Amino acid sequence: MALNILVIYYSQSGQLGEILKNMFSSVKGETDITTIEYKPVKDFPFPWTSDQFFDAMPECVKEIPVELKPITIPDKPYDLVILGYQPWYLSPSIPTTSFLKSDAAKILSGKPVITVVGSRNMWLNAQEKVKAHLQQLGARHIGNIVLADTNHNLISLFTVIRWAFKGQKEAGRWLPEAGVQTRDIEAASRFGPIIANAMVSGQTNQLQEKLLAAGAVHLKPTLIVLEKRGITNFRKFATYIREKGGPGDAERLPRVKLFKRLLLTGIFVLSPISGLSAKLVSIFRKKSFREQINYFKGIRYESDVI
Ligand SMILES: Cc1cc2nc3c(=O)[nH]c(=O)nc-3n(C[C@H](O)[C@H](O)[C@H](O)COP(=O)(O)O)c2cc1C
Repeated sequence: MALNILVIYYSQSGQLGEILKNMFSSVKGETDITTIEYKPVKDFPFPWTSDQFFDAMPECVKEIPVELKPITIPDKPYDLVILGYQPWYLSPSIPTTSFLKSDAAKILSGKPVITVVGSRNMWLNAQEKVKAHLQQLGARHIGNIVLADTNHNLISLFTVIRWAFKGQKEAGRWLPEAGVQTRDIEAASRFGPIIANAMVSGQTNQLQEKLLAAGAVHLKPTLIVLEKRGITNFRKFATYIREKGGPGDAERLPRVKLFKRLLLTGIFVLSPISGLSAKLVSIFRKKSFREQINYFKGIRYESDVI
């Protein structure tokens, strides 16, 4: 009998949809896949305007949901759920949070779930939040696959900004393509057979190990340091901005603009310095970083790790 798989996700550009489609392209005969894409009633713009983009930060970080369009999930005995999501501001994207907090997410209760992340390269805090939701929902988290932009951190920041504000994912004259590289999106097809074998043999306990052996998660120690610094600042700024109102409130715009200026300065002016200091920290505390890398590559959940 074919494996019954529910694939559920949100994507603005279609990138995550492509990743998920490729993942099971080589095991079509062995799987019966139901794909559900959920959308907010008032969807986020793509490409973004600058004000809307930076205004989204507080609600991402504080995990404040928006209303989603109703979805109908066919009533089938799903063997496995694939939850695809993307980080926004080091947190689950607002549509992801909205889904995980909605009644529809109860479909995950008691089910084996594999998370698939389509990110730039900073997904640790978002994944911890998603793990917490899965635990609350009573889902069995059995695997995690992270696709990220493999270009240098600074290059990927330039290209993701071009993509978000102009919609241009393709490589230009000076810069490579934005986001997850086409070859990596295509290579996601290697994960399907590993997942199908684990499900059929019932050996889901060893699935994450097998996925890691196939390169499911790459993690640089410097990004752990940068992400911890980033999320600490975002949390403070999220509270500061929300003191002046909710999304789109004109009252909070000056604070959103201040956040934008500081973020861009942090990224493009201070980033080389903070990148170097992060590298030094990771070199001097090798053992602690080895443990952290193992933790973040795995699927175990401990609260307040980041
Ligand atoms: C508002 C916003 C914030 C983002 N923040 C992050 C982030 O913190 N970390 C990261 O790795 N990627 C970040 N990204 C990139 C997304 O995770 C994602 O890879 C990209 O938007 C493509 O996703 P899509 O499939 O929805 O088009 C951000 C994108 C947007 C639009």
